[in-house]
Amino acid sequence: MSRKILVTNALPYANGDIHLGHLVGYIQADIWVRFQRMRGNTVHYVCADDTHGTPVMLRAEKEGITPEQLIDRVHGEHLRDFTEFGVAFDHYHSTHSTENRAYAEDFYAKLKAADFIDTRAIEQYYDPVKNMFLPDRFIKGECPKCGAADQYGDNCEVCGAAYAPTELKNPYSAVSGAKPELRSSEHYFFRLSDERSVAFLREWTRGTNAAGQRRLQAEAANKMKEWLGEEGENKLSDWDISRDAPYFGFEIPGAPGKYFYVWLDAPIGYLASFRHYAEKRGDVAVDDYTDATRAAAAATEMVHFIGKDILYFHALFWPAMLQFAGYRTPTQLCVNGFLTVDGAKMSKSRGTFITARSYVEQKLDPEWLRYYFASKSNGTMEDVDLSLDDLIAKVNSDLVGKYVNIASRCAGFIAKRFGGKLGASDPRATGEFETAYEAAIIARAYEERDYGRALREIMRLADLANQYVNDHKPWELAKQEGGEEHLHTVCSTALTLFRDLTLYLKPVLPALAAKVEDFLAIEALTWNAGWHPLPAGHTIRDYRHLMTRVERKQIDALLEANRESLAPAESAKTAAPHSQQRHAEKQQHAAQSSETASAHISIDDFAKVDLRIARIVDAQHVEGADKLIRLQLDIGETDEAGNPKPRQVFAGIKSAYDPAALVGRLTVMVANLAPRKMKFGLSEGMVLAASDPDGQTGGLYILSPDAGAEPGMRVK
Ligand code: MSP
Ligand code: ZN
Repeated sequence: MSRKILVTNALPYANGDIHLGHLVGYIQADIWVRFQRMRGNTVHYVCADDTHGTPVMLRAEKEGITPEQLIDRVHGEHLRDFTEFGVAFDHYHSTHSTENRAYAEDFYAKLKAADFIDTRAIEQYYDPVKNMFLPDRFIKGECPKCGAADQYGDNCEVCGAAYAPTELKNPYSAVSGAKPELRSSEHYFFRLSDERSVAFLREWTRGTNAAGQRRLQAEAANKMKEWLGEEGENKLSDWDISRDAPYFGFEIPGAPGKYFYVWLDAPIGYLASFRHYAEKRGDVAVDDYTDATRAAAAATEMVHFIGKDILYFHALFWPAMLQFAGYRTPTQLCVNGFLTVDGAKMSKSRGTFITARSYVEQKLDPEWLRYYFASKSNGTMEDVDLSLDDLIAKVNSDLVGKYVNIASRCAGFIAKRFGGKLGASDPRATGEFETAYEAAIIARAYEERDYGRALREIMRLADLANQYVNDHKPWELAKQEGGEEHLHTVCSTALTLFRDLTLYLKPVLPALAAKVEDFLAIEALTWNAGWHPLPAGHTIRDYRHLMTRVERKQIDALLEANRESLAPAESAKTAAPHSQQRHAEKQQHAAQSSETASAHISIDDFAKVDLRIARIVDAQHVEGADKLIRLQLDIGETDEAGNPKPRQVFAGIKSAYDPAALVGRLTVMVANLAPRKMKFGLSEGMVLAASDPDGQTGGLYILSPDAGAEPGMRVK
């Protein structure tokens, strides 16, 4: 029976850029959604920006715009980033929406009617200059334990102590610098400590989903035990759900000047996004997914993908709110660990605080990252380490070396020798792939979000497919008299195996799979389509380049780009005026950029440089020169008789290249540089190579164009 699942991802804050850390959880969810759909299940996949709260309000103020303008802009940026990484929500909404306000008010009214709302006065720090109460993160002072200066109001970054803001010594407002005063104000509370709520949460923790999987991962279930205490114990406290004006959010009905705390309406945003999308579509019964009774009858599921830092909100407050307001409760929480880069916390000074946008701007392939993150995901809450060298190795060896290699070695023969038509496949070779058994192992791993296991299994099959090609050596069959038919079978079989691998990889690599579907001229691959070989007589299209290798220099450029973008645009968690270290980082950055920045040139200036694609037709050592290589470069020029007339260029790249390895390569040359007479002969241009600013360290790299470029093409 097919499942009906509402899947959500945590709603990113609307005051910061999406970075690779965020993407861990979004990519994990997207893979799961794609997998479920390939299985024939119905999935609605929604998300939204989390727009409310003090940080958004202050950030907008700093930029001199309204909060609405800020969240509008960020909404566009976030959606674009997710789309680039193939994270394909059905709808990306905002918590600052009419649907969300209506839901928030409804929850509040129902919880109040069920006697789950309380009010009481609390004392809090108030900024007398800014005229506002200060959230903990906006109060700083000296750590009460170790005395370190400039520590936040909730914990000390130096000694790790946790405390209340009122314990700080010499506190000051991070907003205005003023000395805060304690003031009393009435707050609204959700009575999480109520007996009914404790009993419900104990029960909820134990549930399973439609596939028989536990509602909570083992680590999350342990956390719940810790939070709830032993049977008969009650360790929960009530939850403060209101904030005083000025605040960017929804005003609480009947309580002028009081606003819902951002975390109250944030998860409600899941439902708001879903409702907006369902109403736009018109054919989705919203209540079947949201109403407690209807959802039970329709056997729908609601699955939340979140990071481990927000488990508390999703495993305690949120299920309890849903339960006692008469809504359906979550069937499953899928919690991801935190991202580290090369074994350490993401760091701006090291350039490992990598934004999604910079990754795309540096022209790295988003599917490299999807593959890598998938390979490191095992369905637990463990942290995920992005080892940059490991990413390069995995992508190059698994995807390019194993997977793509199968098609690139066989497709040409089908095109050239058989007019693009496939022959019969060898059933003995396709057998192992087509057993329901293999597919079931991989499917189970996907279901459990153990994508690492799924990919290991898929790569084992890719090894078998390569082994098959190696055993039968199509390149030799192609030369043999009478080898035609065998060649046809081997290549067709290999392409069937390639099709199967593509199907298995599709949840992780949707864009690559779409290219392959096009190349093989087949319908969109789904899990249940049956495991039939590609039929004899089927015509495929011309093989086009599927995926390039990752080069270390691309990763270095990415780090460099992020090292230099120490812009103030970060999440509020770090955006408040910060430690001296941060200050130092900024100054260092300012120094760096004035060093590297050069005066602007106009586009016309640039157009004066005639850059051409060149093929290196010959490369020789130069007698008596220890740095130079003599190149003959074909840029499509001919002599009067029409014979190719390559240009001679002396290039200072001997330290990095062996001449023999250069012959045949494409590169880029400056074609209109004035010819220069050298001791060894005339140099008629220049080839482009990358190096460190000093040209000494880090090596030399000549440029090469993407496949398809031809000698003589203009580069601009
Ligand atoms: N706005 C809240 C979520 C509200 S959900 C009703 C929030 N936003 S966030 O922008 O800080 O984080 C969005 C998601 O990214 C969360 O699931 C969070 O756990 C996750 N991550 C943020 N930084 C991360 C890493 N460095 N590593 C892995 N996941 C990370 O929290
Ligand atoms: Zn301290």
